[in-house]
Amino acid sequence: SAAEKGGYDYFMLKEIAEQPKAVADTLLGRIGADGQLTLDELRISDAQLRQVDKVVIVACGTAFHAGMIAKYAIEHWTRIPCEVEVASEFRYRDPILDDRTLVIAISQSGETMDTLMALRHAREQGAKVLAICNTNGSTIPRESDAVLYTHAGPEVAVASTKAFLTQLVACYLVSLYLGQVRGTKWDRETFGVIELLGHAPHQVEQVLRTMEPVRELARSLADAHAVLFLGRHVGYPVALEGALKLKELAYMHAEGFAAGELKHGPIALIEHGLPVVIVVPSPRGRAVLHDKIVSNIQEIRARGARTIVIAEEGDEAVAPYADHLIRIPATPALLQPLVATVPLQVFACELATAKGHEVDQPRNLAKSVTVE
Ligand code: G6P
Repeated sequence: SAAEKGGYDYFMLKEIAEQPKAVADTLLGRIGADGQLTLDELRISDAQLRQVDKVVIVACGTAFHAGMIAKYAIEHWTRIPCEVEVASEFRYRDPILDDRTLVIAISQSGETMDTLMALRHAREQGAKVLAICNTNGSTIPRESDAVLYTHAGPEVAVASTKAFLTQLVACYLVSLYLGQVRGTKWDRETFGVIELLGHAPHQVEQVLRTMEPVRELARSLADAHAVLFLGRHVGYPVALEGALKLKELAYMHAEGFAAGELKHGPIALIEHGLPVVIVVPSPRGRAVLHDKIVSNIQEIRARGARTIVIAEEGDEAVAPYADHLIRIPATPALLQPLVATVPLQVFACELATAKGHEVDQPRNLAKSVTVE
C-alpha cells in the first residue's frame, strides 16, 4: 500500500532514501569516543581473530560486490590475504581451508542457498564462519560461528540498495576490527578513516539531495541499447554493481569493467553515442590511478562515447572530458563506494521507470534465491 511505501511510488525509492539512516544504524554503538571499535555481538574471540591467516569471502549478487570491496579494505588494513568468490563456485573447486581461515558470508536475506551451502562446506573443513546479514535469526547467521548484523531494516524491493550500503559498512567495521585486535596498520590513517566513516550518513544524504540531474539523464537514455560502466580499485566493484542494477531493473545490456582492462577488449565496444559511466578514484588517493582513468575517459570520448563521469568534488581534471559530470563528496579512497554507488542506484531506478518497468518486482528475479 501507499502507506507502507512511506509516500514513495516504489519501495526501491523509499529504500534508496532510507540509506543515510540505514548506514547510521549500522554504525551505531560500534565506534567508541576514543575511535576504538567494539563488536561485542561477534561471538568469536579476539584470540581466535589473531590466529586468522586467510580470509575468504563468499556471497551472491549485490552482496558479492560488497565482498569485492571488502577485499581491498581487508588486505590494506590488516595485511591478511583475502579471496572473494561467488558462493555458487566456491565449494565445487575444492577450496583450501583450515581452522585459521576466516570465511565471511555476506547475505541480506540470510537464506540464499548458494551462500548457505558455501558456508556449510567451509565449516566442514574447519574454517570459522562470520555472517554479515540483515535478517535476524535467519539460516545463514544461525549456522555461522559469528555474526555481525547490518541494520538496514526490511528491504522489500528485489534490487538491493540500502542493504548493500550497510554491507559495506559492516565489511569496513570487520576489516578495521581485525586490524585493531591484531595491531596491524593501526595508525593515524585508520583512526582518520574511522572518524570519516562516522560522516558517511551525512555524505550519503548530501548525494541524495543532488540527484535530480541524474534522474533527468536516466530518462534521456531510456532508448539506449547498452551502457558500459568502468572503474578501478574499489570503483571496479562499484561499476559492476551499477551494471547489475541496470540489468535487473531496466533489462538492458550493461557491463562493468576494470578500467585498466579497457585496452584488452572492451574498447572495441565503444561506438558513437554509447553511454559509458566512469567511476573516478579520488585524485587525493593514489594519483596514478586517477590519472590513468582520466586518460581512459579521453580515449573513449575520442571514439565517440558519451561519458558520464562520477568524480569527487574539486576534481577538475576530469571536467573537460565529461559529457555529464556527477559530483560526490570527498572520502578516503576505500570508503568511496558508500557515496559512488548511490547515483548508480538512482540512475537504474529512474531509467527503468522511464521504460515503464515495475522496479520493485523485476521479471524473472526473486528477492531471495533459496534454491541452488
Ligand atoms: C538475489 C537478489 C539480489 C541479491 C542476491 C543475494 O539474486 O535478487 O538482489 O543481491 O539474491 O541475496 P542475499 O539475500 O544473499 O544478499
